[in-house]
Amino acid sequence: MAMQLRNRLRLVLLAGVMATLFIVDTVTNYEVAAAVFYTIIILTAAPLLTRRTLILLATLCMALTALSFVLTHKGNLPTGLANMSVSIIAIVMTTWLILKMDAARQDAQDAQAKLMRVARIKGLEGLTTSIAHEINQPLAAIVTSGNACSHWLAHDPPNLDRARQALERIVHDAGRASTIVARIRSLSRGEAPHKTVFTFNDAVQEIIGVSRGEMERHGITLELELPPDQPPVHADRVQIQQVIGNLLLNAIEAIISSTNPVRTIHMASDVRGNVLRLSIRDSGVGIPAGIRNHLFETFWTTKEDGMGIGLSISRTLVEANGGQISAEPVEPWGALFCFTVPVAQQDQHQ
Ligand SMILES: Nc1ncnc2c1ncn2[C@@H]1O[C@H](COP(=O)(O)OP(=O)(O)OP(=O)(O)O)[C@@H](O)[C@H]1O
Ligand SMILES: [Mg+2]
Repeated sequence: MAMQLRNRLRLVLLAGVMATLFIVDTVTNYEVAAAVFYTIIILTAAPLLTRRTLILLATLCMALTALSFVLTHKGNLPTGLANMSVSIIAIVMTTWLILKMDAARQDAQDAQAKLMRVARIKGLEGLTTSIAHEINQPLAAIVTSGNACSHWLAHDPPNLDRARQALERIVHDAGRASTIVARIRSLSRGEAPHKTVFTFNDAVQEIIGVSRGEMERHGITLELELPPDQPPVHADRVQIQQVIGNLLLNAIEAIISSTNPVRTIHMASDVRGNVLRLSIRDSGVGIPAGIRNHLFETFWTTKEDGMGIGLSISRTLVEANGGQISAEPVEPWGALFCFTVPVAQQDQHQ
């Protein structure tokens, strides 16, 4: 509070100095370049102002410089003109340098935050981190099915059929977790993905099944546009499912942290030439312009408990399978993530 008061006082003082400077600049001859001193005001006020107000202040200083020139009638006119130009150039340069410096400082701070996050997980190799991240989803699914299984067994009389179904899901997800570990290890050794020919939308539906409970719990509506007559794709099915799982989880998290009453995720697949494209659009917090370039960077996150590796793993996986991944903001809200997978060629069919 005391700090705020002191800053406000400092700004009032600067406004007084500015007014004095304007008067001095106006009553003295053209030869006296008092307006150059506006740069000192800009330099002093800069730490207290936002970027926008700083630009406004610089504009005001330039306007006052010009006004003083118009009001002054004493001295040599060409010298006055030259002095006014020098002052305006000085104001522009000072403001530009401050803004540049500020952006550099911001970048340095971001890099430091990133470094700290890396340091936090120091000791864990990138490989271990990736595995931990990627098997989180099947593990969560196993816990859910485990709970369901106990519930059906404790039923009076026990519902053995439902319990068996839950157990089958556990076995399936445990298998998926161990395949994911194997695939990540082989990827980190530089081995090629295990590509097969499969129906893309079936793989999508399977992952949706894993996340459905989470979406229902948070009141999220899922809209699907997965046409049945699309050609099969040629890729590593497990890896493509990892990508879908990561994007879906991010979409859910973006909606959870948003206050938007519309809570929908829209998933659609379409054929574009020789690739199949999956798009996942959510009504969540969206992607502000400044962060778009960072999204796929390793360890870049805006979440308190995020690792910042979901998207970087996803990009590695999509590209290893011959596709591309992209992100863009959507109007009026939310984000759109798309990735492509190659359609199987005739000679790849078994
Ligand atoms: N659907 C989305 N809407 C808005 N922002 C998103 C979305 N998906 C990702 N982001 C942004 O991209 C960042 C990086 O995502 P990424 O999945 O790589 O890491 P994370 O989700 O933060 O953590 P984790 O490693 O646990 O997945 C997120 O922190 C978030 O700021
Ligand atoms: Mg994520």
